[in-house]
Amino acid sequence: MTYPIVILGSGRGSNADALLKAEANKQLGAAKIVAIFSDHEDAGILELGQKYQVPAIYIDPQRKGARLSDEAEQNYIDRIASFSPKLIVLAGFMRIIKRPFIEAFEGRMINLHPSLLPSFPGMNGIGQAYEHGVKVTGCTVHWVTPELDAGPIIDQKEVRIQDKDTLEMLEKKVHISEHQLLPDVVARLSQGTIKPL
Ligand code: GAR
Repeated sequence: MTYPIVILGSGRGSNADALLKAEANKQLGAAKIVAIFSDHEDAGILELGQKYQVPAIYIDPQRKGARLSDEAEQNYIDRIASFSPKLIVLAGFMRIIKRPFIEAFEGRMINLHPSLLPSFPGMNGIGQAYEHGVKVTGCTVHWVTPELDAGPIIDQKEVRIQDKDTLEMLEKKVHISEHQLLPDVVARLSQGTIKPL
């Protein structure tokens, strides 16, 4: 049985790339990435569509800021649903999505966050951890629920912060940890070895 996945992102798409690479290397279980969506027309993540022969779709957010317009959210819901995904992965999707969007896919939507939640939710999780001076941070994959970055945690990977680390060095380390954690979680979800929400 295949396990169709849709990825949403706003930026360079290094985590989407890690997932697509893992799929190409047969490390993603039954998972098959069937579409990529972005709210930024020129986002790097959309360029992965051509590289991996996957539909890459821009949907106009219809407004600036943290949230999509109601009409844009409905467009996302309809276009995503047309791919009948078993899983929706938010991999750097920098919008707070509202309740109807979440409820349309609840139990099928996960988010990647660059800190060890519940520490440092919201924007700039890596910078927040660095500024705070914690010695251990990392990344989290969790189920998306209406409370921002607060859904049940599926798994986490830790990264130690050394005194000599600059913010840039820490960013690199956290991204490396994300590129390991996210494909691992997706493979386990597709194999049914993770408890559903
Ligand atoms: C990742 O570090 C992800 O954890 C973060 O955006 C980055 C996307 O990078 N997400 C958030 O901060 C969500 N609040 P990518 O575009 O290279 O995958």
